[in-house]
Amino acid sequence: MKITIIGTGYVGLTSALCFANVGHQVLCLDNDQNKIQKLQNKIPTIFENGLEEMLSKALDSKNIEFTTDFSKAINFSNIIILAVGTPQNEITGEADLTYIHQAINLAKKYINEDKIFITKSTVPVGTNHQIQKILQENCPHQIHIASNPEFMREGFAIDDFMKPDRIVLGIDHKNCQEPLNQLYQFWLNQNYPILYTDITTAELIKYASNAFLMTKICFINEMEELASKLQANIQDLSLGMGLDHRIGKAFLNPGPGIGGSCFPKDSMALKFIAKENDLELSIINQVIDSNYLRFKKMAEKIKKFFDKKEIAVLGLAFKAGTDDVRMSPAIEIIKYLLADDFKIFAYDPKAIENTQKILGDKIIYCQNLAQCFVKSQNIVILTEWQEFKQIKDFPEFDNKQILDLRYIL
Ligand code: UDX
Repeated sequence: MKITIIGTGYVGLTSALCFANVGHQVLCLDNDQNKIQKLQNKIPTIFENGLEEMLSKALDSKNIEFTTDFSKAINFSNIIILAVGTPQNEITGEADLTYIHQAINLAKKYINEDKIFITKSTVPVGTNHQIQKILQENCPHQIHIASNPEFMREGFAIDDFMKPDRIVLGIDHKNCQEPLNQLYQFWLNQNYPILYTDITTAELIKYASNAFLMTKICFINEMEELASKLQANIQDLSLGMGLDHRIGKAFLNPGPGIGGSCFPKDSMALKFIAKENDLELSIINQVIDSNYLRFKKMAEKIKKFFDKKEIAVLGLAFKAGTDDVRMSPAIEIIKYLLADDFKIFAYDPKAIENTQKILGDKIIYCQNLAQCFVKSQNIVILTEWQEFKQIKDFPEFDNKQILDLRYIL
């Protein structure tokens, strides 16, 4: 089956490669010429486990192509997947749909036959109906819309896409079902759950799932504070709760707060959606506040724990397995510490370059773990990279003051 994907960011590129991997012919469109050139030359534009090999394989098999040509992309297929970014509006917190609107307004110019637009970008409830309206207006061809939210995690994106817990498909017409079944034939054959629902519900499933997971993490983070005070063991507490199948063990690891490009942004967007519908969702509001407060509390904990204002930070990425520092707890905590005149050495196996874009030379970057470890007597672990466990074997380990906010040691 032929598919066009608009946007080669995290979701777009991973989806494209996975669809190519199961035999679809995929044409990826992006307006960033530089990105497209890199991808054409087998150079990944994001860091993700297994992505480089998959890109090379897909290009060799000719199942994937990259272009900046809108007309070619829209003509290529009658299935168009929208996977452009929907960042957070800095002022209001709502999702910024600029890229979605740019994409559909351009796409509209080239529609030459009936099309199904499938939205993978996370968009506020109601957006798909708006997209449908814009595309259908004055268009002689039949345009259908499907909402297909994506649940992949960074670091596990390919695995999550290939082995999903579920595939959610919100459709506006039963005619969409057959082409969507073809698109997901590989997964249907393997009996992965596919939930067909209406568009509005599909849109809301994504936000509700993210908000629920975020609530779970915030809950365990608060329990960690209490356990700390009571000298109870938070990891046993987490396991003791998680073994109850109604609770589940996943996403119950305490940490320095929740970061990344999705949870913080999507929870704000959900709050905004509720507000627009004259609702205050008190749990969501509390979760957002609790997470911001967590960064501050962790900075306070660091200040109290060490007797000097000089520390070495292990980990800058918002979680292990990625170079992404968007809303990284490490960076948010470092900002608080810098405001209190801390001198900070830092090491991360992947995220130094991205951190430099935010913090510049306000902190001192180390080349490797060993170097960072010897720089200061005071060590804080902020990202759960496996390699940080090695510090236990360093000769100076016993003489160091170590605060492990990820509980990896
Ligand atoms: C998330 C969702 O999991 C995914 O379904 C959605 O498509 C995109 O957003 P991602 O942002 O890649 O994925 O990261 P995730 O693994 O969910 O972690 C988010 C944050 O929560 C990270 O900062 C992580 O360190 C933190 N976290 C996660 C915890 O502190 N404890 C946990 O138990 C799990």
